[in-house]
Amino acid sequence: APAQDLSGRRVVVSAGGTREPLDPVRFLGNRSSGKQGIAIASAARQRGADVTLIAANLEVAEPDGCDIRRVSTALELRDAVVDAAHGADVVIMAAAVADYRPASVSAGKIKKDRSDAGLTLELVRNPDILAELGHAPHGSTVLVGFAAETEADEGRLLELGRAKLDAKGADLLVVNRVGWHEGFATDENAVVIIGTGGEIVARAHGSKLSVAHAILDVVVADATTAAKA
Ligand code: C5P
Repeated sequence: APAQDLSGRRVVVSAGGTREPLDPVRFLGNRSSGKQGIAIASAARQRGADVTLIAANLEVAEPDGCDIRRVSTALELRDAVVDAAHGADVVIMAAAVADYRPASVSAGKIKKDRSDAGLTLELVRNPDILAELGHAPHGSTVLVGFAAETEADEGRLLELGRAKLDAKGADLLVVNRVGWHEGFATDENAVVIIGTGGEIVARAHGSKLSVAHAILDVVVADATTAAKA
């Protein structure tokens, strides 16, 4: 059994991908399955944490032993995360949150035009939940963000990661490459974890559960250092 190094800790994990409705039958979504976030929730449970899982449209089974709050849109996810984050020791934002949502949701199904004209959708920005948490006073809560990048060059990938960590005010960033064959909906993952100094703290690859444990190893070390400071 893994070390009970998160015993008595409150860990909040968001997982899955948000869906932004256009009308009663359509939405704008993304290809996140929720597997990596669920693996983190399971790994935290195995290590003795009290886990709240904010679940956005999961395509896989929910893990046992977690307090699960189901949400669909970015705005719902934000309310659930902000609520659960109060007094949490760790918040891990593994969910793929839509950056934009339709400016209005049609009450009825959007009809196609009689002409061959295209259709233009107007989108508005969603709040950046991680940045909101990172820029508000958050005591000793360790904030972990994810950066899913399609950038192939590792140097460039790290640069993007560093800038993101800074912009969000997070403590750790898990950077991975995603695309048609990597990251989403697969059982394996490869990540680089970077700290606030822009340094690589750890690299991990393998099953999403082993990557989850590697992320938690870094979180536990970070929380221990913070407690001693
Ligand atoms: O900026 P980008 O979307 O690449 O950042 C990804 C990280 O920020 C993830 O941890 C994701 O959960 C979080 N995020 C968020 N709110 C958004 C968009 C992303 O918390 N609106």
